[in-house]
Amino acid sequence: MESLKLNTKYLFGKNAIFELEKELSNSKYKKALILTGSSSYKTNGSFDDLTKVINKVNLPYIHFLGIEPNPRSRTIDKCVDFVIENKVDLIFALGGGSVVDASKVIATLATNKNYYESSWDYVLDSSLAKNKPIDIISIITLAGTGSENNGTSVITNSEKWEKKSVYNALATPIISVQDPSYTFTVDAWQTASGIFDCFSHLLEQYFGKSTFDWTREYIFANLRVLINYAKMVILRPLHFEARANVFWTTTMALNGLGSFKCESDWSVHTIEHAISGLWDVTHGAGLAFVTPTYLEIRSQNEQWFKDKVIQLGRNVFKTQTLESTIKFIVDFIKSINLPTRWSEFGNIAKFDEKDASYLLNHSCRFGEPSMKETYQKVIWALMEKK
Ligand code: NZQ
Ligand code: ZN
Repeated sequence: MESLKLNTKYLFGKNAIFELEKELSNSKYKKALILTGSSSYKTNGSFDDLTKVINKVNLPYIHFLGIEPNPRSRTIDKCVDFVIENKVDLIFALGGGSVVDASKVIATLATNKNYYESSWDYVLDSSLAKNKPIDIISIITLAGTGSENNGTSVITNSEKWEKKSVYNALATPIISVQDPSYTFTVDAWQTASGIFDCFSHLLEQYFGKSTFDWTREYIFANLRVLINYAKMVILRPLHFEARANVFWTTTMALNGLGSFKCESDWSVHTIEHAISGLWDVTHGAGLAFVTPTYLEIRSQNEQWFKDKVIQLGRNVFKTQTLESTIKFIVDFIKSINLPTRWSEFGNIAKFDEKDASYLLNHSCRFGEPSMKETYQKVIWALMEKK
């Protein structure tokens, strides 16, 4: 038996946000929070549009700004208190994946605060949070994570240099507003990182051991669309159709459809989260750095995995061998100007054996203990990629 419930209603297209008026008229909500990052909300048009809609339906609101990229548990703690004090019953999460991820933890702790000292405690053990979170409407302004339509949050504890995911299906946004024109202002680095994040979500769902034909073909189709439009959105950031295709692919890549009836293998994310926890790197760029090495090392050791890499190359990249498939991926990463070596990250000054041990411990603690040997080989090989 398989079960899949897609919990999110999508409002997609130019000016889609104004459809919210219908959704919110005569609604039960008494006070809303608009949650944002530090400044992009002012320039991409989304905040002005949202406040017009909220004012029109006479919904009182307050604003909390300053959710960081790789959102910090300490900032989330402050926002939880703010939400409880102000009796907020609806959150508009307006921003990239970091804002939407933070909103889910805030929404959950707003109704489960009694069980936890801090948001980090919740991230470490979410089992006590049984009360339904307050509702979230996501207004995504950066295409990549898929956070707008899933229950996952990835939170960083910067005091401990740790980054970990936590899942609550009930915190999945009930509505996702998707106006591709809000992503026109995203710079080339973040656009490329979002694209590679999605690329990796598709690959990591594909690289589970089990297979279901429909799911495999769904992944291949999404990869083709993503690759077709990747360079175009970077060269022509105001190209609506290109932004729209990338946007919808990133959303559809992480909502349950890409893993239907299949296992996934989240090792690349596990290693990247360790790297991000230590050096605060941009998530998608970190995945680009890890992926080719991961594919090389697993293919050297496991025939079934190697066969899957070759199958991917044949079906999506129109190439025949293991080497040419990995080369295609490396060329793709370079074509969108993401790093393939640690020295290309401005914030990794050195990467030595002490760092490698730290990354391994983090990966084993939050990842799959059975993958320890693979994590170790990959991390040690990455250290050599200067
Ligand atoms: O803070 P502001 O000023 O908003 O600027 C942000 C931020 O600096 C900016 N930005 C967002 N929208 C923009 C824009 N700049 C110009 N124009 C716009 N329209 O972009 C920067 C990065 O934002 P962030 O939200 O951090 O990026 P992203 O969407 O890539 O999210 C990354 C986070 O999501 C987690 C990652 O680990 C990382 O912490 N993930 C969440 C997942 C999930 N919930 O399912 C899955 C992913 O695998 C991922 O791990
Ligand atoms: Zn990701």
